[in-house]
Amino acid sequence: MSRIFSGIQPSGELHIGNWLGAVQNWVTLQQRYDCIFCVVDLHAVTGKYERDTLALRTRDMAIGLLASGIDPGRAVLFVQSHVPGHSELQWLLNTLTPIGELERMTQFKDKSQRFESVPAGLLNYPVLMAADILLYRADLVPVGDDQTQHLELTREIARKWNADFGGGEAWFPEPQPLLTDAKRIMGLDGEAKMSKSLGNTIGLLDGPEEIWQKLRPAKTDPARVTRKDPGTPEVCNVYHLHRYFSPPETVAVVAENCRGAKWGCLDCKRVLADTMIATLAPIRERALDLRSHPARVDQILGDGAATARRLAGETLREVRARMGFLPGAPA
Ligand code: TRP
Repeated sequence: MSRIFSGIQPSGELHIGNWLGAVQNWVTLQQRYDCIFCVVDLHAVTGKYERDTLALRTRDMAIGLLASGIDPGRAVLFVQSHVPGHSELQWLLNTLTPIGELERMTQFKDKSQRFESVPAGLLNYPVLMAADILLYRADLVPVGDDQTQHLELTREIARKWNADFGGGEAWFPEPQPLLTDAKRIMGLDGEAKMSKSLGNTIGLLDGPEEIWQKLRPAKTDPARVTRKDPGTPEVCNVYHLHRYFSPPETVAVVAENCRGAKWGCLDCKRVLADTMIATLAPIRERALDLRSHPARVDQILGDGAATARRLAGETLREVRARMGFLPGAPA
């Protein structure tokens, strides 16, 4: 069975963009593949970060994933910093990665501009990501299109390691992106991809009132200035969200009432709020239950980390030997 690895940062909020774009897909994939999912807290400290909430955000991300249907009986779910092998392999891979390649990464070029003094961790971020994936010798990596460049670099690093230490073998598989059904969910501002840092999200665990408060001011078709103006559903972000949350009959009604100017945008949003609240209610309920039982979550993450450490240990034993280190490292 092919192995899948993917990671998600403990940003503090799993929002409907992550859920529609990634997490729902993970839940499906765990039925058919050997899946390893990781909350990548070591990646989350590459810039300025909130020290006091890191631990809580990390656990809460795991809670969001579990509530969405990640099943610890089928997939391995763990926290990156609980498996020290990620850092060790990253160091080893750093020695094969040209700085020029790292400086060329679009995400680095973008994020480094926000720093007066750029931390080396920001430059080396993609090497840690390569280590995450190669540590489990994963075949496939479900990622959004913003990460395909990092994945390409991962393949280059794997190729280089194989050439230098593989003894004629492609010992590390060259991991391929899994772009199935990749959805790019726009934020409520209708301007950029939904992202916590832009404040244009709806949280997966938001309650009915929060959902409505956030949806009410959301951008719609700019040509609809008054409710008498006929709208074009295809250019309206709220309509696109309807297609994810509302049943097809409702979507058809929404489109018709928008085109015919029979509904105002607020009417349309009220219907969306209702279907969204109903869709998310069972996830929210499971999450609230897990939040009130943190020990249960930590147990799941502890078991996941134990499995991951065992798998990582197998890889690292072989990697250290092939790279010529004196035996004696801890298992
Ligand atoms: N960099 C990814 C992101 O920001 C998160 C990530 C870290 C990841 N390690 C990974 C994704 C390994 C896939 C595989 O979305």
